[in-house]
Amino acid sequence: MKKWEISVIPGDGIGTEVMPETIRVLDTLAEIHGGLTFNYKEYPWSCEYYLEHGVMMPEDGLKQLAQSDAVFLGAVGNPKLVPDHVSLWGLLVNIRRGFEQVINVRPAKQMKGIASPLVNPNEFDFIVVRENSEGEYSEVGGRIHSGEDEMAIQNAVFTKKGTTRAMEYAFELAKTRSGLVTSATKSNGIVHSMPFWDEVFQETAKQYGDIQTQSIHIDALSAFLVSKPHMLDVIVASNLFGDILTDIGAAIMGSIGIAPAANININGKFPSMFEPVHGSAPDIVGKGIANPIGQIWTGKMMLDHLGEGELGTLLLDSIEEVLQNGVKTPDIGGTASTIEVTNEIIKRLKLRA
Ligand code: NAD
Ligand code: IPM
Ligand code: MN
Repeated sequence: MKKWEISVIPGDGIGTEVMPETIRVLDTLAEIHGGLTFNYKEYPWSCEYYLEHGVMMPEDGLKQLAQSDAVFLGAVGNPKLVPDHVSLWGLLVNIRRGFEQVINVRPAKQMKGIASPLVNPNEFDFIVVRENSEGEYSEVGGRIHSGEDEMAIQNAVFTKKGTTRAMEYAFELAKTRSGLVTSATKSNGIVHSMPFWDEVFQETAKQYGDIQTQSIHIDALSAFLVSKPHMLDVIVASNLFGDILTDIGAAIMGSIGIAPAANININGKFPSMFEPVHGSAPDIVGKGIANPIGQIWTGKMMLDHLGEGELGTLLLDSIEEVLQNGVKTPDIGGTASTIEVTNEIIKRLKLRA
């Protein structure tokens, strides 16, 4: 019997609603498979934990997670209790950086059964490879002076190493797909780091002769995602550009509530972490209507990462079937609850098994 050790951090807000539902789905998959189990260890780290302990996670928190095969996270953030910069740096970013999860992979595709807000979605299917450790999210800078002279500075940091590994990841991924990598840039002379980004892109491309490339300015690329997303395949983007592009990707799929993501540790030293694109959604918390598909599809990415790709495919097919049958939460035009959607996915999984 194979046993996967999963560290589970539901976190805040709807993270605590969609996570238990997703665990039910994973358990169903284990049952269907028959030869594997998921062993969960749940951690209560969240803004409420912060109020009690003064920290978002214990000092040895990373050590506690390090032994698991993967970290599965819901969402972090409850700005009414704890300022976002405290909760996010204290937990989410702490894990991404502490575990060297330098790549954030975020697919977006036209899903069967959901109406994209685009008139002509044309079966788009692309993946954003987001640099996940540096760039605009640097730790260099801070607030200085006071009064009229007060200012906030944050230097974007692009290292050759960090930029190259994100690009290489994108090119390797493109080999398994249609073979086009688009670089999200802003190299028209204004943002100084971007000509450097372009140079690294061109240098990396030389190692991948068969892969087509294009560079598009981030503003134009944002528009492109809305007007012609089917022309894109793998997109490589800096930390902030990738963050923004992937919310657009989620929106053209139909809702941020369905978009999945994976924070990948590429050197094999630490576990990778799987968390959906969406946040804790304070505006709908407690209503039982959070879309569980973002978390469940993120579970599929975790299964793929663990080498359980067949289960992952079965899961995504079942999700699409449920959507086609019209069982949907309100964010995608339905009236079903979080639990009803999950029940339906579980039912479909069992029927397909
Ligand atoms: P958000 O993603 O939480 O919400 C944006 C909008 O999308 C809201 O209207 C919300 O109701 C809706 N939405 C999100 N997920 C949904 C779902 N599963 N089903 C249905 N509707 C859904 O973004 P925000 O409002 O900018 O941030 C709220 C909090 O979450 C903040 O504290 C923010 O910092 C945090 N955040 C955390 C993460 C993370 O943990 N990975 C990501 C983004 C935001
Ligand atoms: C995301 C989120 C985070 C990010 C925030 C909450 C720090 O928006 O995962 O997309 O910007 O990386
Ligand atoms: Mn984001």
